[in-house]
Amino acid sequence: MTMRTDSSEPCTLNTTAKNSGEKIAILDCGAQYTKVIDRRVREMNVETEIFPLNVQPDRLRDGFSGIIISGGPNSVYEKNAPKCHPDLFKLNLPVFGICYGMQLLNLALGGTVQSGTTKEYGETVIQVQPDSSLFKGLEQNQQVLMSHGDRIDALAPGFSVVAESAGGGQQERIVAAMANPEAKIYGVQFHPEVELTEHGTDMLKNFLYEVCQVSGLFQLKDRIEMAIEDIQQTVGDKDVFVLVSGGVDSSVTAALLVRALGPERVYAVHIDSGFMRHQESDGVCEALQAIGLKNLRRIDAADYFFNGMAEVNGKTIGPLSTLTDPEQKRRIIGDVFYQMIQKAMAEADFDLDNAFIAQGTLRPDLIESGNRSVSETAHKIKTHHNDVPIIQEHREKGLIIEPNKDWHKDEVREVGRQLGLSEELVSRQPFPGPGLAIRILCVDKPYITNKFEATQKALKEKASAKGYDSLLLPVKSVGVQGDGRSYSYLAILAPQQPERLQNWDELKNLARDIPNHLHTVNRVAVILDGQPLPEQCQTITPTTLQSETVDKLRRVDHQVTSAFRAAGIHDDISQLLTVLVPVDMSGEKGHSVAIRAVVTSDYMTARPASLGKEIPLAFIQHLANILSDEPGMDRVMYDITSKPPATVEWE
Ligand code: XMP
Repeated sequence: MTMRTDSSEPCTLNTTAKNSGEKIAILDCGAQYTKVIDRRVREMNVETEIFPLNVQPDRLRDGFSGIIISGGPNSVYEKNAPKCHPDLFKLNLPVFGICYGMQLLNLALGGTVQSGTTKEYGETVIQVQPDSSLFKGLEQNQQVLMSHGDRIDALAPGFSVVAESAGGGQQERIVAAMANPEAKIYGVQFHPEVELTEHGTDMLKNFLYEVCQVSGLFQLKDRIEMAIEDIQQTVGDKDVFVLVSGGVDSSVTAALLVRALGPERVYAVHIDSGFMRHQESDGVCEALQAIGLKNLRRIDAADYFFNGMAEVNGKTIGPLSTLTDPEQKRRIIGDVFYQMIQKAMAEADFDLDNAFIAQGTLRPDLIESGNRSVSETAHKIKTHHNDVPIIQEHREKGLIIEPNKDWHKDEVREVGRQLGLSEELVSRQPFPGPGLAIRILCVDKPYITNKFEATQKALKEKASAKGYDSLLLPVKSVGVQGDGRSYSYLAILAPQQPERLQNWDELKNLARDIPNHLHTVNRVAVILDGQPLPEQCQTITPTTLQSETVDKLRRVDHQVTSAFRAAGIHDDISQLLTVLVPVDMSGEKGHSVAIRAVVTSDYMTARPASLGKEIPLAFIQHLANILSDEPGMDRVMYDITSKPPATVEWE
């Protein structure tokens, strides 16, 4: 199916409710999970709008069917703890308070909260009253992710306890949920929005459909229409520039622009940064023409990128080809992308300071960049190339169009399907904007801290107890531990007997246990090439983004991707990538290669594809042997770490 691109007739998808008129207001108390609540509610076909907790109640008077108050990191008694407007509860709207939200509403309505000294956070079993509307259809015992520092003491008048924590004997029981069914006000001490609360979505659904009595008119197709209208309203009669990488995110953005404005008003640029995969830019341009882009320009900009510089805190960094720091690399790549767009815009006679630029930014990109539009509290995990300061400035002027910014990857794919994009394009594996540049670990010296020896010793003990040799490599890679970013060692394992490689469960457990116990390790890989490990490896191969090095990774990446395709397993994996690791245990100045294959739906968490099950062992070992025979190639390993504690990419 191809997309209709008739410019005279912008799309109006057949929809029952553009604005469903039954929105849920989510009041944000600063929780990392606010966006997850938002996403869950939208998945249940109910429109949402996020407000700060102290929103003026008048703003919620019309069009809202209920209020959810999120959790938050504060104690209600803290001086700066967020507060709601005293009249919020006089709106007579149903309210659902989560964690902090429950304590806040209890306090505001005349109850008391007991201050705690320790914060408890973990999975626990609670006992609920199935006759409460909130728990309708559920069993009495429920596994939930409990989170509390403070706890409910005296309930506000009119409320009763509808769930209690089952742990710790009578004295330890805490109020896990409270309700005033007449006022339609409910509170829970746990997080119904996360997967660790087994039936959390049922509870949210009960609040929406039983208590607020919404009818679920908000469909993905409405959100597509809203995105299209939003584009039309924002840009008025101006043209839009769009940066298209060829991935599903930017392709969907481009397709929405073509739908909203017609193909004549959309100027697309594909930039070959020199960090693309084998012959990728050729394929990308063909696919983009097929979605109706007429004004499509390809810029071969490898030289600009390799020689790119940037200003960071008044200091000039670069050129890119000499740098080793991942954040600096990302920063320059982001800036050069922007410079390339500006150059292309100037050449097409666009007014740089006032022109609209569209990009395919997703919700998780903004969360991980610590963008304030997503959360006031989220930590910066990494700079995404589409959220560098230069883009942020343009965004502040209201000139960045990001129609996918409320969507996650799986939703964007669904939007693409609904817009009629080809399945091949829609199901494409993601490829990061900075491309192969962030898949080459760049180093100028070994990473050896005072924890190296002790960590290696502990690693060896752990691994040998299970029949594996092991080694701590003097390089670091990025991970996410807690809600923050970690930069830690890479541990590698080699089976003492070849058959150990068949025991995936054991490998998976080791990959979880090692970073759990050794906090300076966040990534574990297993050697596939069958050769033994040396006792020590404390040297690296100095590596930066030289074009030969990028070519080397491009060749390996092509070999790996082609082999996975030929074996028919490529499409069962969410993302397949190869990383050049600057370590050569043979004492030469070569590199090792890591294969990473993950399975995930939202890329916020991911698990490695299993060896021996999803990836046949004979296949991957054969591939490893071919790769290690390549000149300048030392060891071949497979990354067996989940996200968290590792990330999908290594930098
Ligand atoms: P991580 O490594 O954070 O990756 O687990 C999650 C997803 O995001 C992609 N990724 C990026 N995409 N620009 C992008 O467009 C970036 O800078 C970037 N870094 C990571 C990654 O490939 C995975 O799909």
